[in-house]
Amino acid sequence: MDQNTRAARPVSYFPVSPVMLFPEALGDFSVYLWQGGDFVLYTKSGQRFSLQHRQMLHKNDVKDVYIQSSEKPQYEKYIERNLGSILLNEDLPIEMRSNVFYEASTVVMQDVFDSKLPTGLRARHFDRITDIVKNSIKFLASDNSLKAVAPFISHDYQTFTHCMHVFIYSVAVFQNSDMSDNEIFECGLGALLHDVGKAKIPHSILNKRGSLTQAEREIIKEHPIHGVSMCAHLPLTQNTINCILFHHEKLDGTGYPAGLKTDNIPMPVRIISLADVYDALTTERPYAEAMEPYAALTLMRHDMRDGLDMNVFKRFVTVLSGADIL
Ligand SMILES: [Fe+2]
Repeated sequence: MDQNTRAARPVSYFPVSPVMLFPEALGDFSVYLWQGGDFVLYTKSGQRFSLQHRQMLHKNDVKDVYIQSSEKPQYEKYIERNLGSILLNEDLPIEMRSNVFYEASTVVMQDVFDSKLPTGLRARHFDRITDIVKNSIKFLASDNSLKAVAPFISHDYQTFTHCMHVFIYSVAVFQNSDMSDNEIFECGLGALLHDVGKAKIPHSILNKRGSLTQAEREIIKEHPIHGVSMCAHLPLTQNTINCILFHHEKLDGTGYPAGLKTDNIPMPVRIISLADVYDALTTERPYAEAMEPYAALTLMRHDMRDGLDMNVFKRFVTVLSGADIL
């Protein structure tokens, strides 16, 4: 069969929220609408996406637009090019910027966890995660951003959304702590990557309904070490590595993998541990219902006080109250 007679490959598309089509940004990919059972071209590659384009989508209550899978790399580059300026553009409503932040992080983190990670985190993914952290820290520092992001926080547990939530809560507390911009970046990166080692744990164990056997529990406990080994080829600082490796340590020494005690657990790691527990309790899991924020905090204060840092706990409660989450 020569090239002219070879059957054309079916074209595949992926959905994107219209909020990701930034006004006046130039995208070198085409955008399609799903209309009457077919994909219909909306804007051509190289065409600026105007305010009118956005308004038309909004007016017609379009929830998804589509991009051809072959143009995914161009779409990812476009997000990277524009995310920082969009998030810091105070002319845009904070609700819209929060939506953009949550969508952009979801795209990257879902991609990371879907890509099986046989030999570790790919450099390409790492660069994208680093970009998300750099671009969102300043945004999350602005007044009311946590409050604006809170409605997007889903209560269905998935590892990648959990990583994003822990990142969001932790960065909010970092910014109320005595930390330099560099530390906030390095530990923010650690928060976003803290559970990356779970990509090596079988789904049958991670999503098991009912209680785990002792052997299964031991397998899960390996995820902080898997996480560090999966990132061994990447230029991570000790601050970032500590967050991945020690986020299950407890102040009373009963945590894992090292059984570290109080002063040996760095402060940013204690913040991540607390955010980790809080998000786990307030999210629907295969084995437990999601708890209300106040109930989760009460449980943490009464039943987990020996393992968690109660000064960090107070700061955490203040941050959540300030964002109207409580
Ligand atoms: Fe974990």
